[in-house]
Amino acid sequence: MATTNSSKREPLTPTLAVDQTSSKGPSTLAVHGGRQRNPYQSVPEPVVQAATYAFENTADLTSFMEARLWGNAGGRTEYGRYGNPTISAVEKRLAQLDGAEDAILFASGMAAITSVLIAMLPTGANLVITDDCYRRTREFCNTFLKRLGISCTVVPMGDYDALESAIQPNTRLLLSESPTNPYLRTLDMVRFSEIAKKHKIKSIIDATFATPLNIQPLAYGVDLVVHSATKYLGGHNDLLAGVVTGEAGLIVSLRNALGVLGGVSDPSNAALLLRGLKTLALRVDKQNQNGQAIAEFLEGHPSIERVWYPGLPSHPDHEIAKGQMSGFGGVVSLTVKGDLEATSRFIDALQIPLIAASFGGVESLVEQPALMSFFELSTEERLGVGISDNLVRLSLGIEDAGDLIADLDQALAQI
Ligand SMILES: Cc1ncc(COP(=O)(O)O)c(C=O)c1O
Repeated sequence: MATTNSSKREPLTPTLAVDQTSSKGPSTLAVHGGRQRNPYQSVPEPVVQAATYAFENTADLTSFMEARLWGNAGGRTEYGRYGNPTISAVEKRLAQLDGAEDAILFASGMAAITSVLIAMLPTGANLVITDDCYRRTREFCNTFLKRLGISCTVVPMGDYDALESAIQPNTRLLLSESPTNPYLRTLDMVRFSEIAKKHKIKSIIDATFATPLNIQPLAYGVDLVVHSATKYLGGHNDLLAGVVTGEAGLIVSLRNALGVLGGVSDPSNAALLLRGLKTLALRVDKQNQNGQAIAEFLEGHPSIERVWYPGLPSHPDHEIAKGQMSGFGGVVSLTVKGDLEATSRFIDALQIPLIAASFGGVESLVEQPALMSFFELSTEERLGVGISDNLVRLSLGIEDAGDLIADLDQALAQI
């Protein structure tokens, strides 16, 4: 047996360089949240590009294995699917931003959603979701979960009686989004979490459109929050990632599930996310301002049929949003006065927003859902899910509002 000398080991847990209490403001947390002193004293968090980690000797290995059994391995790991220092750094920051005990990073928003649902729902269970949600989430619930013997009940967003009546004895989870895509319906977090608690079931919110800056679902009693970090959190349209935040016990069981399901992020992706997060508060503030200014401009424009933006008094959930959100985000949905072709003419005439899927990055993007996310559906099928030919989703970036308004104005003249 090899001779062992575990006294040679470096301390496994680095000393904290910054107070971890989350009494700090969101911009401070976005820059410093969870920061730990690193061995190189580098200001940016080091990118530990590793798939596996070595042990000095067998004693080192066995002391790690024992510590891990007791749940105190000090953040050290033996293999990349079970952990990575750069990923841990971004998880700590995201947890603090959401006011959560812990967070877990996934390869994409969909990896986060599918892993959470698989991990938390046993065969025979039921899940209740609200409509007007990300269509891939609905697709996963209605197809993949169904194959696993898990049923899914869809209720109209904003109908809290329907939500409560849908709960059956085997219902384990309530899942909703806020704001939703594309109509930016905003959930009453208080009512949602009260219904879940009354029936002793867990509640999950996909808060991708809101970010931790605009809403804090955990503070309203929601159990878990999911974000596609691909959008505002990364903020530069250069990475895919997803995160789940919440109580430590729930995150530990998700971490165990992730080790088996394997939808892990990677260290360079986590480093990009850390970099993006540092400007999150600045970006979201600008995007909130652009969202409000552009929604107001569009609502008064003669070529516009209707605008959906939670910051407008005309939005069905304006009062809820005003009470529970600190900003209304950078996505504005609208219908123009025109058919499919006229709508495309408007989009093609835009000079600043790029025609692309996604939202939340620094560049403004525009899409005509009938020709992008819902292209494979017939007009009738699209109308059945509330997507009309003249619907446009604008995702505002951080450009100057005046330039965006001038651009929209000249493009609307092309209808
Ligand atoms: C609300 C919402 N949740 C989840 C996702 C999935 O995220 P990702 O593309 O990172 O897998 C999206 C993607 O558009 C989304 O809009």
